[in-house]
Amino acid sequence: MISGKFITLEGVDGAGKSTHLGFVAEWLRQRGREVVVTREPGGTPLGETLRELLLHRDMDADTELLLMFAARQAHLAELILPALTRGAWVVSDRFTDASYAYQCGGRGIEVARIAALEAWVQRGFTPDLTLLFDVPPEVAEARRSAARAADRFEREADSFFGRVRNAYLDRARAEPDRIRVLDARHSIAELQGEISQLLQALT
Ligand code: TYD
Repeated sequence: MISGKFITLEGVDGAGKSTHLGFVAEWLRQRGREVVVTREPGGTPLGETLRELLLHRDMDADTELLLMFAARQAHLAELILPALTRGAWVVSDRFTDASYAYQCGGRGIEVARIAALEAWVQRGFTPDLTLLFDVPPEVAEARRSAARAADRFEREADSFFGRVRNAYLDRARAEPDRIRVLDARHSIAELQGEISQLLQALT
């Protein structure tokens, strides 16, 4: 039986979520939790191999979606569910909300396809809390161009990221208790304060 909790971080590329991943893990560890930090696509040896392909090989949108879920299946079976079952808390840099945002919102795949894969792979399992780091497209774009060499997603046009952002916000409106929207223009210190409150409510 699952006794740990599953927290995911989401946002368009350049929202700054990776900065906050370590803070979330450290906050929980200081309160005595065993914490497993992971990411998608990735998190297992097979998943990391799939990540390399997903980020750097050209492919059609359906192949991309199916590989995302293949990596997710392995991630759940080999890492996430065993960790939660032994009582650890799992913090993941992205999960299924990213498939709705990028493959549905960004690439235009029908939502029903993603929902079918989600039902197959997750069987009703969802994160306990999702932190959505939201920024206007121009801020994300400035942060992306300041970062290292762009991968296949990061090279997409601004209009792609506008659609990704809107899809994330639609999901947050549909599931306001799970998906908490944070204004990623706030300072790191302000955001850490907001994140602490949300984690406090979960513990
Ligand atoms: P990201 O998490 O942003 O890592 P980094 O900060 O190292 O660039 O990169 C993963 C990319 O994969 C990101 O552009 C979003 C994309 N992605 C999807 O398109 N669908 C998904 O289901 C997931 C998990 C990620």
